[in-house]
Amino acid sequence: TLPWHQEPYRPQIHFSPKKHWVNDPNGMVYHNGVYHLFYQHYPGGTTWGPMHWGHATSKDLVHWEEQSIKLYPDTLGFIFSGSAVYDRNNTSGFGRDGKGPLVAIFTHHVDPSQTGGKNFQYQSLAYSNDEGKTWTKYAGNPVLRKPESTDFRDPKVLWYEPGKKWIMTLAVKDQIEFYSSPDLKNWKYESEFGKNLGAHGGVWECPDLVAFDYNGKKIWVLIVNLNPGAPNGGSGTQYFLGDFDGSRFVASHTDPRWMDFGPDNYAGITWSNTGDRRILIGWMSNWNYANEVPTKNWRNAMTVPRELSLQAAGDKLLLASRPVPELKRLEGKPRLYRNIGAPETELLPSPAPIQLPALIELDATGLSAWNLVFSNEVGEELELGFDKASGQYYIDRSRSGASSFHKEFAGRHSAPVFSATPGRKVTLLVDQSSIELFADKGLTVMTELFFPSSPYSRFRLNLPAGGNMKSVRVVSLRSIHTH
Ligand code: FRU
Repeated sequence: TLPWHQEPYRPQIHFSPKKHWVNDPNGMVYHNGVYHLFYQHYPGGTTWGPMHWGHATSKDLVHWEEQSIKLYPDTLGFIFSGSAVYDRNNTSGFGRDGKGPLVAIFTHHVDPSQTGGKNFQYQSLAYSNDEGKTWTKYAGNPVLRKPESTDFRDPKVLWYEPGKKWIMTLAVKDQIEFYSSPDLKNWKYESEFGKNLGAHGGVWECPDLVAFDYNGKKIWVLIVNLNPGAPNGGSGTQYFLGDFDGSRFVASHTDPRWMDFGPDNYAGITWSNTGDRRILIGWMSNWNYANEVPTKNWRNAMTVPRELSLQAAGDKLLLASRPVPELKRLEGKPRLYRNIGAPETELLPSPAPIQLPALIELDATGLSAWNLVFSNEVGEELELGFDKASGQYYIDRSRSGASSFHKEFAGRHSAPVFSATPGRKVTLLVDQSSIELFADKGLTVMTELFFPSSPYSRFRLNLPAGGNMKSVRVVSLRSIHTH
């Protein structure tokens, strides 16, 4: 048998647990040089089950070390999604020796199987005074509940300095509720948000409230995960730009805006305690088929960590995401192809070899259309590109490999262009079973899974007659599993 990191489809530049099921990233906090990543985990199998918090750590956001499971289900229920903070001033009193603790704020979920059909959710705490190695659940749990608390979950907590208080952003059915607290234990209702705004095709989950400094102005972004109701089906992430005054969030627009147009980036939230950086990681899957994708010993993985920023696009301000620059440390020697257009050029029409994982950077400035096709020796193909007729980016995985495990999997997905300047610079991160497309400075993003029967080993370019691709830079990436 193969070592775990060489199993078929195993991500080489993304975090996945060695074994068993994973969904949402949880409790991301940076402290003393370590990035903590917790996650929804079922150690009893490769499908969703009673939820635990698994744990992984990294010093560089690239290489992850899987740690022991940190939170187990208890008499109050399963351990659902939530966040973690560094309580610098020890407002909670959980600290030791004058030092602030790490505090996790999560949802306890009472499963319908235990209540004869009803589920209940409430918010609880756990703390650590040894850099996240061991956690103690608070004896006063739960700290926030409602009488009929179904769909009342995924607390994301931040320290609101102007009001010297904690703010909790909570998903409640298909709206958001904000709560405040001086000490993480006592919570007061502040306001709700979301009626008649944004997309409501499903339940709202895993929210995040993030402040950005944009040219000296403070702008708040409310990230709201939604399932189903995403633009390309199933689970997706919308966001709202606006203002937050310590009690109320007011959006500056009513239309839904999407962080990622691909089907496979869900439940993403940001790390806390990262100073000026806003770093998000998402779950690289979709509830449509997360339980059925054809991996064997583990199921699902995270996206690469992404740096968020606000970018102007015409008269709009939008949320852009780009892979964190730390990923550069995986880069091997680049191959550069320039001025590709003449039929005899290397990538056209016959394919060039490629070894995954790889980073590909395209400069398609001036081109009205192009596409790139990855293939293997049995003729399975993943196609992506820019489509002239619709003026959209697209990824087509209908012939990419296994897809019969779910009827929603095979398909062609598209994403709009936001950039006013037709730059068309595209970065692709391609792993054994996933692709992440970042176009136009991260304004258009698409994340997609695929499951070819053998790894893609070749790629070719297609251009319209007379078209010229300025450059294609191909860099093979080192696996994060080989040090
Ligand atoms: C989102 C979600 C959360 C919940 C968790 C349960 O994917 O449904 O709302 O806390 O997964 O595992």
